[in-house]
Amino acid sequence: MANVFFTPQTVIVGEGALKESQAALCALGKKALIVTSGSMVRGGALEQLQGILQAGGCAYTVYTDITGEPSDQMVEAGAAQYLAEGCDFLIGMGGGSPIDAMKAIAVVVRLGGSINDYLGKVITEPLPPFCAIPSTAGTGSETTQFTIINNTVDQIKMLLKGPSLMPTLAVVDPALSVTTPPKVTAFTGLDALCHAVEAYTSKKAFPLADTMALSAVRRIFASLKRCYEQGDDLAARANMAQAALEAGMAFNNSSVTIIHGMSRPIGALFHVPHGLSNAMLLKPCLSFALPGCYDRFAVLAKEIGVWKDGMSEQEGAEAFLAAAAALCEALQIPSPEQYGLNREEFFAQIPKMAIDAQASGSPANTRRVPSIEEMEQLYRSLF
Ligand SMILES: [Fe+2]
Repeated sequence: MANVFFTPQTVIVGEGALKESQAALCALGKKALIVTSGSMVRGGALEQLQGILQAGGCAYTVYTDITGEPSDQMVEAGAAQYLAEGCDFLIGMGGGSPIDAMKAIAVVVRLGGSINDYLGKVITEPLPPFCAIPSTAGTGSETTQFTIINNTVDQIKMLLKGPSLMPTLAVVDPALSVTTPPKVTAFTGLDALCHAVEAYTSKKAFPLADTMALSAVRRIFASLKRCYEQGDDLAARANMAQAALEAGMAFNNSSVTIIHGMSRPIGALFHVPHGLSNAMLLKPCLSFALPGCYDRFAVLAKEIGVWKDGMSEQEGAEAFLAAAAALCEALQIPSPEQYGLNREEFFAQIPKMAIDAQASGSPANTRRVPSIEEMEQLYRSLF
């Protein structure tokens, strides 16, 4: 069977990427809507981008009101600014939120209506060109055909998808991530780890995506802890930026599985950051998935150097799981209780969360497919 591998048209990656992106950025259009957040303003990254556009003779207007995970209202305001200012392309700079918001704004300015109208539709219509410039190493949104928007009318997190949501251009410059705080570094880095591990062990895995996933896992184990402890280590940041990009390419093409499927409902109902809810679920969900896929988990153990001669595939798989759990511990990932979630409130939502997880389709990509009851049990095991 043949497989399709989607990537952005152009990827500029590595130290100095932002500076070197001028020609590619300015070729996208005449006037950009820059979608970003306050931290990019304070850290000076926005100013740098503005200088690059000015020197290239490209006009722009800045929308900085992405104050958290993107909502339908933020998308609406950004779309209004794009249209009022006569923009013809978009640039999203920052964490996953501004990039996701940018994608949704591109949909609304071209196709009209509210972003909430697009739930469940695959977006294939041509959109204005858009460029993603990530400042955190995690979501991989710069290389995916997905965006997650909070629908404040129905109180749900909408996963929107379609090949048109793939950025035209991705600029991955590790220098932008050196100021990421340790906690955000940990959460986003473990999000990338989940992308890579889930993609590699997904039913939909195939060799080209596997190459990306394996490389990402190796880099994350080599550098994430260092980035957490010593944020200004540019070499470690560069390794993580590359890893997040590779992990994004992997899951964009092979899909995520049980962790992401079960994680989204926790995020939607309890407002736990995406990477953190993934990290909370990593150990129990992978323990569940392991027996369906000892061989592939054993390859991951070899990739990160915890495989020992004489091990069976099962022992190798378990060694990988132990290493992943130890990484979460080293990054001081809190339990739901330590994070402040109320046990009773959480338990009351478990039936709904398990149904929503299954409805997302992601758990079905796991090689050991969990039933609703098994997911309920996994949720209970978090406390
Ligand atoms: Fe994710």
